[in-house]
Amino acid sequence: MLKHLAIVVGICQNVVLGIPFPCHFNEKCRCNSIPIHAKFVTEMMLEVDCSNTRLQDIPDLPSNVYTLSLKKNNIKVINDYQFSLLRNLSELDISYNKIKRLNRFSFNEVALSNLKLLESLEIDIPQITRLKVVFSKSFDSLVHLETLKVGICFLLEIKNDTFYHLVHLKKIYFDILCEISILPGAHYSLQKLNRIEMHYFYMYDVLSIDDAIKELSLTPVQTIIFRNTFLHGTKENFNVWNILASALNHSSVRHLQITENNPVGLFPVSRIDPVPPSILTLNLSSNKLDQFALELTNVQKLILRDNHLGDLLCLKIDNRHRGRNPKLEYVDISENNIYTLKPSIFQGQAELRYINLSHNHLQEVLFDLSRSNNLSLVDLSNNSISAFDQNSMRMFDNISLTSNLTIYLLNNSLQCTCKTLIFWKWVVVTRVKVFFDRRCASEDGVVIRFVSTKKRIQELEKECISYVSFIVIASIVLVATLICIAVAVVHKYRWKLRYMFYLAKSKHHRHKASIDSKHYVYDAFISYCEHDNSFVINDCIKNLEMERNFKLCLHQRDFIPGEEITTNITNAIHESRKTICIITKQFFDSYYCMFEFNMARMESIYSRDKRNIIFLIFLEQIIPQDMPLMLLELVQKDSYIEFPYDEQGNVVFWEKIDETLRQ
Ligand SMILES: *[C@@H]1O[C@H](CO)[C@@H](O)[C@H](O)[C@H]1NC(C)=O
Ligand SMILES: *[C@@H]1O[C@H](CO)[C@@H](O)[C@H](O)[C@H]1NC(C)=O
Ligand SMILES: *[C@@H]1O[C@H](CO)[C@@H](O)[C@H](O)[C@H]1NC(C)=O
Ligand SMILES: *[C@@H]1O[C@H](CO)[C@@H](O)[C@H](O)[C@H]1NC(C)=O
Ligand SMILES: *[C@@H]1O[C@H](CO)[C@@H](O)[C@H](O)[C@H]1NC(C)=O
Ligand SMILES: *[C@@H]1O[C@H](CO)[C@@H](O)[C@H](O)[C@H]1NC(C)=O
Ligand SMILES: *[C@@H]1O[C@H](CO)[C@@H](O)[C@H](O)[C@H]1NC(C)=O
Ligand SMILES: *[C@@H]1O[C@H](CO)[C@@H](O)[C@H](O)[C@H]1NC(C)=O
Ligand SMILES: *[C@@H]1O[C@H](CO)[C@@H](O)[C@H](O)[C@H]1NC(C)=O
Ligand SMILES: *[C@@H]1O[C@H](CO)[C@@H](O)[C@H](O)[C@H]1NC(C)=O
Repeated sequence: MLKHLAIVVGICQNVVLGIPFPCHFNEKCRCNSIPIHAKFVTEMMLEVDCSNTRLQDIPDLPSNVYTLSLKKNNIKVINDYQFSLLRNLSELDISYNKIKRLNRFSFNEVALSNLKLLESLEIDIPQITRLKVVFSKSFDSLVHLETLKVGICFLLEIKNDTFYHLVHLKKIYFDILCEISILPGAHYSLQKLNRIEMHYFYMYDVLSIDDAIKELSLTPVQTIIFRNTFLHGTKENFNVWNILASALNHSSVRHLQITENNPVGLFPVSRIDPVPPSILTLNLSSNKLDQFALELTNVQKLILRDNHLGDLLCLKIDNRHRGRNPKLEYVDISENNIYTLKPSIFQGQAELRYINLSHNHLQEVLFDLSRSNNLSLVDLSNNSISAFDQNSMRMFDNISLTSNLTIYLLNNSLQCTCKTLIFWKWVVVTRVKVFFDRRCASEDGVVIRFVSTKKRIQELEKECISYVSFIVIASIVLVATLICIAVAVVHKYRWKLRYMFYLAKSKHHRHKASIDSKHYVYDAFISYCEHDNSFVINDCIKNLEMERNFKLCLHQRDFIPGEEITTNITNAIHESRKTICIITKQFFDSYYCMFEFNMARMESIYSRDKRNIIFLIFLEQIIPQDMPLMLLELVQKDSYIEFPYDEQGNVVFWEKIDETLRQ
């Protein structure tokens, strides 16, 4: 009792919800009640689905059957008057059965001719009917039959009379188990053809496919679909595309779909004819294409999904003429193994609205869309994008000023690092509608899931501030340390550096004199300051040059005018055997005297194998505290003499200098 009730309730629910329930005339079939509005009344009609139920005979059907599917059963015979009661049948599918024989009255003559409302018919066309007329005169009465789907057929020949009695036929589908040929004159029976889908042509490379397509081009057909059609190897010089292109050159075809084919023989290696001008949609999905160089003529919608164009599309070759077409609105190159796209791929495509690049391996957006102001959808899902760069964000923002742009970024490897923070900030403020998964990879690769993007950004900002300040402080410390070291080094070697510099600058630059037997221009360079002029002029010249025949270098006398003083000094030191410094307190205060002293020091270290070339003459008493360290060193080495200011001492003094200069 309860069980029955449950079933009744179940059935009631099913009726209300439009969910199929077992039919009362055959439990295997599923029925669905639908209200159909007739002239004055609304009648409850039945959608009956008996497909795939191993039926051997057609069940007794009630008269209110509206659609009937008997697909995929084991029905062998259709009896006379089988469907004659089904006055309201609009769709009948009896494809994929084992019909061996159509009784004379069952199908052709009576059974179907009563089905005046039938709009769609799915049947098989058995081999036996091949030589007979399939759709005879009685089909004239099916004035609503517009769609014909042929499941199984055996070498169906479409001739001038094949569909002669189906004058309203608009759509024809030949399924995968149906091999056809289209013979000359066929267009006479296809006067209203709008759409045709086919798979196999009977020996298409022997019987002329050219004729077949030309026949179709004489009908008003708008959509032609070849699916899984051109598979076999083809004979030499046979390529399908050029045949199609020229046969459809002046046709009405607007949508051409050539999918799931073998690319060999689809496109010729050289000279590819352009797409016929009437074609607006070109669907070349799933062809394993790795080359594509069609001139697109007027194509607005290009579908190249599921091919192997990845290697081609990254090439930076400029195909200015081929493949370019400013009318393109819709491009689908998803599933193409694309790693990078050449930046110019969409350049100048002002009409673009839809781009599908999903299911590829793109890592960044580099392509230029700046002219595509009408763009409304870019699908980048299922790629490897970590974030957009500044340029792309600016570009998308620009587009969103003129168009409502949506970008899919689902299933990418978005990153939330300090580098990509700017991208996340953009995502929340931009007018572009961006769809993305609420997860991102952090710096160390850990995937973080989040609910609120804004919160994630705040967290990231905090991390980045501490990170940035760390970087800044570390950099400052590093730079400061480097500067200190540099200053210290420069200070330590300041004289060496200056010496090297001036020596290098010197025009008289000579090779390092390592042996003192070398010829010097001067015996001594006298370094002194103005204060001690008279001592040099009166005493030195007299005692050393006149009496002892030494050649002295004096800045007043021997420096080359016009030459820089520092260069003169360096040259003088370099070209003199010794340098004699006349030391008074003023010597230490004079920049150039100290310069000369230090340069001489460098000369002795770097050009004279550290032999001492400096000799000091103290004209006055100087206490050690007042002396620079370097001078003190020389004093300790005994490389000095004090001026005696008395007659006898004078003789010894000049003898000592004489001795020094001769060393
Ligand atoms: C069903 O067919 C009958 C007879 O042809 C007709 O009167 C009726 O209006 C049809 N019902 C619908 C819903 O078409
Ligand atoms: C079909 O073609 C045949 C032979 O080509 C011709 O005899 C016949 O009249 C044509 N039928 C129609 C309906 O055009
Ligand atoms: C299509 O027709 C035009 C002229 O109508 C012609 O110039 C062109 O070569 C034809 N294309 C093909 C592929 O036959
Ligand atoms: C292109 O062809 C494929 C079949 O390979 C089909 O699934 C798809 O819907 C077609 N796309 C368009 C836009 O016609
Ligand atoms: C893009 O193409 C993929 C298949 O390659 C498809 O699943 C997806 O729906 C398409 N995206 C849009 C927005 O149409
Ligand atoms: C964008 O679309 C508008 C409206 O559909 C159209 O008038 C305009 O020509 C298009 N602009 C461009 C640059 O394609
Ligand atoms: C933004 O668009 C304008 C015109 O619509 C264009 O001139 C400009 O170059 C674009 N800017 C960028 C960054 O793409
Ligand atoms: C964008 O969308 C808004 C709201 O949906 C609509 O009012 C507006 O007209 C759209 N703009 C364009 C250019 O399509
Ligand atoms: C994302 O990937 C998952 C599994 O990898 C898949 O189920 C889902 O359809 C993908 N989503 C999109 C938009 O491609
Ligand atoms: C992308 O889609 C493929 C299926 O088409 C799936 O196997 C793969 O996991 C997806 N990748 C990601 C990152 O989700």
